[in-house]
Amino acid sequence: MSNLKSVTSDIRLFKPSKSFCDIANINSIILDSLNNEAKMDYPLFWANLAKKHIHWHQPFTKILNEDNPPFFKWFEDGVLNVSYNCLDRHLVNNANKTAIISESDSGIIEKVSYKELYSKVSVFANALKSIGITKGDTVIIYMPHSIEAIVAMQACARIGAIHSVVFGGFSSKALAERVIDANAKIVITTDGQKRGGKIIPLKNEVDIAIDMLPHDNPIQHVIVYKKISYEKLKWDKPRDIWWHELIKNKSDICPVTEVDSEHPLFILYTSGSTGSPKGVQHSSGGYLLGSIMTMQWVFDNKPNDVFWCTADVGWITGHTYVCYGPLAVGATQVVFEGVPTYPAPDRFWQIIQNHKVSVFYTAPTAIRTLIKLGYDLPQKYDLSTLRLLGSVGEPINPEAWLWYYETIGNKSCPIVDTWWQTETGCHMLSPIPGVTNLKAGSCTQAIPGIMIDIIDESGKILGNNDNGYLVITKPFPSQIRTIWNNPKRYEDAYYPKDIGDGKYYIAGDFAHKDKDGYFWILGRVDDVLNVSGHRLGTMEIESALALNPIVAEAAVVGRPHDIKGEAICAFVVCRGERPTGAKAKDIESELREWIGNQIGAIAKPDEIRFGDNLPKTRSGKIMRRLLRSIAKGVEITQDISTLENPASLEQLKQVN
Ligand code: WT7
Repeated sequence: MSNLKSVTSDIRLFKPSKSFCDIANINSIILDSLNNEAKMDYPLFWANLAKKHIHWHQPFTKILNEDNPPFFKWFEDGVLNVSYNCLDRHLVNNANKTAIISESDSGIIEKVSYKELYSKVSVFANALKSIGITKGDTVIIYMPHSIEAIVAMQACARIGAIHSVVFGGFSSKALAERVIDANAKIVITTDGQKRGGKIIPLKNEVDIAIDMLPHDNPIQHVIVYKKISYEKLKWDKPRDIWWHELIKNKSDICPVTEVDSEHPLFILYTSGSTGSPKGVQHSSGGYLLGSIMTMQWVFDNKPNDVFWCTADVGWITGHTYVCYGPLAVGATQVVFEGVPTYPAPDRFWQIIQNHKVSVFYTAPTAIRTLIKLGYDLPQKYDLSTLRLLGSVGEPINPEAWLWYYETIGNKSCPIVDTWWQTETGCHMLSPIPGVTNLKAGSCTQAIPGIMIDIIDESGKILGNNDNGYLVITKPFPSQIRTIWNNPKRYEDAYYPKDIGDGKYYIAGDFAHKDKDGYFWILGRVDDVLNVSGHRLGTMEIESALALNPIVAEAAVVGRPHDIKGEAICAFVVCRGERPTGAKAKDIESELREWIGNQIGAIAKPDEIRFGDNLPKTRSGKIMRRLLRSIAKGVEITQDISTLENPASLEQLKQVN
């Protein structure tokens, strides 16, 4: 850590340019007054913003209800509809403004105005109603990143149904688990999708998932959007319904269902350190407010911007900064279905040039991949429309940051390195682009109204020049409300009694606060991995491995990876003899496939090593820290005197 301190103490500051500051939504005077208002009375601060930026069908009179912590309620007697805020209210002045510029994997471009999107959403909302979906029902959306996925999400919001989007890269098994936990009545999917030129038959996965469910499963219908005219489609009548048939003769007027501010808007599953994925449940009013304010403060939203967030709608970033935030502020945005490297690693730069993108938001892993595959490629493109860049998902290393700043931003675009989580709903730590002096690799400071600190094991709040657990000390509107079906897990995971005495929201990250009070995220404190900006629980992968009949025992750890941030390394003890040579290679690929089927391709281990047993303490605990050193290939410095079976280490050091 001493290393980090010396790096952060005399690091270079990047000041926003005068031309950016001149037109920025927030200057230092406004930022100071926002921060002061929040400091004086943070609930009132948020309440004033909620009144100003949200259309309420019935205004709220109660601001924050803290009667039953940590189950906080915001604006609870207010009545609104999120889809109304994203669509209807733009019809007066911006009906013909482009809402979405969609570009498919193969390059087909489709533009949709606010009026057209409003109609599409209304028609589909009426279609959902016609099959009996009503307020409070849960709906699984398993679709490619596309206009239709956004239409499906907005249509749910319009009628008060609760969506749960499952990323298209998750396996049928993972999908089945989420269907059951969410108790979903319908699944909305497509016949398939093309990504990076490859065909992914999504509907087939849904069929397999439903086959895994008990006979009395809750699924009544599967709605299928015909996207690629996939030929080998199976059809189960009357369960399966074509989207285009369901919407026939449906009106394009669908009055919104008014809901309470605390009505669940969606559930999104994410990995934790233990057990199965957690259904993070968000609210309507508070979540919407967070999306709107961060679009204004952090992305400095302007009427003429072309905004592009590259995240898939299957992740929280795609919820907040594709489906809800940009629409709520009436922005024009790009929705790109494909991958950055197909057909060539200049795809992103081409899209920025062609659609004149001005605000670009992506992940460090994408930046690092593109640096590696084409350091100078961006120079062939006109990227001069860019005025602001963003980064999210994992710490961005200073080298990648500098390339992003110089080569993509031409040294004139601030970079907002935004720290947040599925559970926080919107940005928490981020530069305010027209004010904050940037440091490459730091997500700088809390946005207005968000109270963030670092604490030690005993719960003491630490000052500058220290490292500790990152905590949010006060409730905030966009925060997670509970874990679906499991309020106890919500309390235990985020407000644990053993750290901070249950008073603070514990993010699960460790952070350094430098001499200027800037935050530097150091990594997770729990057994959660961050692979290419995606969150995966080591326990989840271990349990999946243990289900394979070859496997007697498994332990999974992360190790640093140049491109992905972290790589997955599994240590496996097989039933019977320890495999070596070609046999080990075969079993390794078999287990990788297995994980692909159990969870999804993103969870496939990068490496699997075999041993006769795993290093354990005498009490039988797997020594993960030791495995981490082995995976990294560094010398073991930990105390191994309590190790039950030291000989196993040599085997595990061997690469297959
Ligand atoms: C975890 C949350 C919410 C965005 C997508 C990921 C890590 C996120 C940053 C950042 C350093 C970051 C943290 C966090 N993380 N953004 N700018 N700098 N680390 O959402 O899957 O819920 O993961 O991602 O470790 O806890 P998520």
